[in-house]
This record gives sequence, structure tokens and C-alpha cells, in this order.
Amino acid sequence: MDISKYKSVHVVDHPLLKNKITRMRDKNTPTNEFRQLVKEVAILEGYEALKRIPTKNIEIETPIEKTSQPVIVPKNIVFVPILRAGLGMVDGMNELVPGCSVGHIGLYRDEVTHQPVEYYCKLPSSIGEKEVFLLDPMLATGGSAIGAVKILRSYGVKKITFVCIISAPEGIKAFAEAYPDIEVFTGVVDRELNDKAYICPGLGDCGDRIFGTVVNDND
Ligand code: PRP
Ligand code: URA
Repeated sequence: MDISKYKSVHVVDHPLLKNKITRMRDKNTPTNEFRQLVKEVAILEGYEALKRIPTKNIEIETPIEKTSQPVIVPKNIVFVPILRAGLGMVDGMNELVPGCSVGHIGLYRDEVTHQPVEYYCKLPSSIGEKEVFLLDPMLATGGSAIGAVKILRSYGVKKITFVCIISAPEGIKAFAEAYPDIEVFTGVVDRELNDKAYICPGLGDCGDRIFGTVVNDND
């Protein structure tokens, strides 16, 4: 896919990231390692995705003199994982910017229609005034990410960045066309979706792999 026509979509290009995503794809990677990899990939991608967050200057004193220097204001930033798999990315993002609040949006894909079904939503108060980083490792059809953005918009959220790990061309197209103003950071763009709307080659069901809900012979 030529994603260059989607100016809002950024593929984070770094060998450290690609190496970790390959480990994630391997079906023999055990649950504990998989969960750790999701966290580490979130840190590497988060470093890029958080590049444009605002800072404010504060007065500090070095051993030499007083000076005005930039700091991040964590209370202006909210991480919102899409349950379940997005939860795996929260710790990594939180290591980059400790002290941010976390909202939760619960969506699952209907097995037949592949449409997202909402089952939970708990967002911090005054989220409408905050900058939101929406987290979900998988962008397949795009239905879940689009559904989550609709929910955030209904709470008045204006500034959203979506961070995923593996995306399908179909999901990139659907999301970027629905929300050309929302920046997307992905670790990789895969080939296609299969007839069950799984990403190929992908890594399988990310929620199951993070939480060990499907038996892995190496666990
Ligand atoms: C997965 C994944 C995304 C969604 C992506 O969640 O974590 O939320 O699928 O697919 P889409 O782009 O086609 O919407 P799933 O619905 O399997 O729920 P789970 O995280 O609870 O397993
Ligand atoms: N959700 C997943 O967890 N994996 C896919 O391949 C597609 C959607």
C-alpha cells in the first residue's frame, strides 16, 4: 500500500521496533514476553507520537544560575486504551509521561459483522479540554478505532492521536478517510485482512496473546 497519500499516517521506522514486532508475531513467543514486548513497542512508538506535546516553561535553579526551562504538564494528557489489547500499551506510555490520567473504552468486534460493540466507557472528568492518546495495538478494519474516536468526540475531545502497532491497509484507509485530522502512528502496515478480518501476517488475536486467554504451548 502506498500510504504516502495519507499525510496523517506515520510508520515509525526503527530496527529496534521492527525486531520487537517480529518477536510479537512469532506464535511461539510466550505470553509474558509478548506482554513485555507490547510495553516496549509502546515506549518506542510513544517517543515519536508524543513529539508534539506542548511544554510550559518553569523557573528552576541550576548549580550555576536561575533559568526558565520547558516541562511537560501531565495533567493535560490522557491515555485512552481500547479494551482489552490497548491496556498492554498503557504502562509503556506511562513510563514516558508519568502522572497522566487514563480513560478506558471497552469495545469488542462482533464475530460475524466485525463491527465494534461498546461495553464500557470511563473517561476522566473534563477530558474535552485534554489531549488524548488513543491506544490499540491492532488497526484491522478500523471499526474499533473509528468507534472510539466517535465516543471521544461526543465528550468534546478535540486533539486526538491514535497509536497502534500493526495496521492493515483497509484500516488505514478507513481511519484516515474518516479522520484526516487525526495523526496515526503505527509500527508497521501489513499486507491485508483475511475473511475473518484478521491482519495478515499479523500476530493473531492481540488481546488473547497479552492476557493468555488462548493456550500457548510455551507458557
Ligand atoms: C481487537 C483489537 C482492536 C480491534 C481491531 O480487539 O484490539 O480493538 O480488534 O479490529 P478492527 O480494526 O477491525 O475494529 P477485539 O475486538 O478482538 O477485542 P479484545 O481486545 O477484547 O480481544
Ligand atoms: N484484532 C486482533 O487482535 N488481531 C487482528 O488481526 C485483527 C483484529
